Amino acid sequence: MFLPRHTLLISFLCAATAGAADFKKDIQPILEKNCYECHSVKTGKKKAGFVFDDLETFKLDIADNDVAQIRPGKPAESHFLEIMVNDGKNHMPPDEQLSASDIKKITEWISEGASFVSGGPKMAPVAAKKDLPPIMSWTNAEGKTIKAGFVRLDGENVVLRMPANAAEVAYPLAKLSEASQKLARDCAAP
Ligand code: HEC
Repeated sequence: MFLPRHTLLISFLCAATAGAADFKKDIQPILEKNCYECHSVKTGKKKAGFVFDDLETFKLDIADNDVAQIRPGKPAESHFLEIMVNDGKNHMPPDEQLSASDIKKITEWISEGASFVSGGPKMAPVAAKKDLPPIMSWTNAEGKTIKAGFVRLDGENVVLRMPANAAEVAYPLAKLSEASQKLARDCAAP
């Protein structure tokens, strides 16, 4: 059961290297064209209670738990995607089929953490609090653990320092476990 540390590090990080799908540019237009007709605050149609144009409400469907429609980083476990690809019960949109390229974009977006702000204005980096331990334990959404130091929060990413070579690596916060996301926020000043 021994795995060299670099193997763990690579498998921990490789999820972060996929190309970027931008919610506003790539995903919202697909939902607007294919879903808002029946799932929209604006039109007042809220089939099965779901709306996708009001992001505050839509956000409630995105979480890493068994009931969420979208599980960040886990397209295969996201019901939202399943009903667009299956041809059985509750296929969405009813009587139509999204194109393969639309499905691919949505899959990428979920894999990359299903964030609304990936292409949005970047928040200023937030430095680390003083006196943090140089090495802490981090777990990603798939349950893999690495040891690394906290450097700063940078927008939707946490920047970690790898103990082996002191390299700084940006990792999407949304792909960390909830406990590690909280740890990252706790590590940032003030
Ligand atoms: C023509 C209207 C219509 C369109 C367009 C439509 N839906 Fe739906 N949607 C419905 C209805 C009606 C239901 C309730 C189905 C049921 O519970 O039997 C539903 C249910 C759902 C559910 C809950 C499904 C479940 O298994 O509980 C989700 C999620 C959903 N839609 C997502 C989408 C997405 C994403 C799109 C666009 C890709 C979309 N819908 C497009 C009418 C629509």
